[in-house]
Amino acid sequence: MRSPANPSAPIGLFDSGVGGLTVLREILARLPREHTVYLGDTARVPYGTRSGEVVTRYALQSGKHLAAHQIKLLIVACNTVSAHSLPALVGAMPIPVLGVIEPGARAAAARTRGGTIAVLGTPSTIASGAYQAALQRLAPTAKVVARACPLFVPLAEEGWVDGEVPRLVAERYLSDLRRSGVDTVLLGCTHYPLLARAIAQVVGPDVAVVDGAVATAQAALELLESNGLARPDDGTTARHRTLCTDLPDRFRAVAERFLGRQLESVELVDLAFGAP
Ligand code: DGL
Repeated sequence: MRSPANPSAPIGLFDSGVGGLTVLREILARLPREHTVYLGDTARVPYGTRSGEVVTRYALQSGKHLAAHQIKLLIVACNTVSAHSLPALVGAMPIPVLGVIEPGARAAAARTRGGTIAVLGTPSTIASGAYQAALQRLAPTAKVVARACPLFVPLAEEGWVDGEVPRLVAERYLSDLRRSGVDTVLLGCTHYPLLARAIAQVVGPDVAVVDGAVATAQAALELLESNGLARPDDGTTARHRTLCTDLPDRFRAVAERFLGRQLESVELVDLAFGAP
């Protein structure tokens, strides 16, 4: 049986690396009272070129590690994990688990004007068909084009998010979308919003670029409020812990630049040993 969670406990989020910070940023903006613990599995990034079985094994280790921080909600800030491992995580975790696919698909379905939705993701997310199925259900008349863009992940991890290199990569992946009636591009990987400028430049100003992070943060807010789990205002400021599994200095540099704030610390953890 699930034990009742403590409203003052932190929200846990995880991704393969810096990508899930795009979700953390929206959580910090919309739920400023909440404590958070973010885990980036930088030792094993990328996840998006791996099989569903391996992704699920890694995801369960991250979930277990964050559970040891007594979190009250687990946000899977990774599309690849959300596509393959949500049922396994829901079964293994004693707390609510929120993925990013359903909120992202809802946001894109609300945005399209009956045209074509292009969903961009890792090879593993695209191969799973999870977005294609969700979009077909939520926007039955829309045409869906799915495109794997694996090189966006190392560019984001490296912090190469502006300038010629990301623009050329985006051009190579996406230039044909300009001729295919696409009115909405859904960023189906949490790393991709870091490259949103380069992507928008290539698809053009008339195409809406949708990032599911805002919708995921909104879903988290609703879930906490409807379960009586929102942190009460006790006059203290929220604490934010950041963990990663390799190269904390590099992680910190990219994370601080992206979040626009200094991190209290970046702790190196080993997921093989579960506890914090
Ligand atoms: N950011 C992740 C996602 O949303 C995974 C990227 C990767 O590790 O390949 O799918």
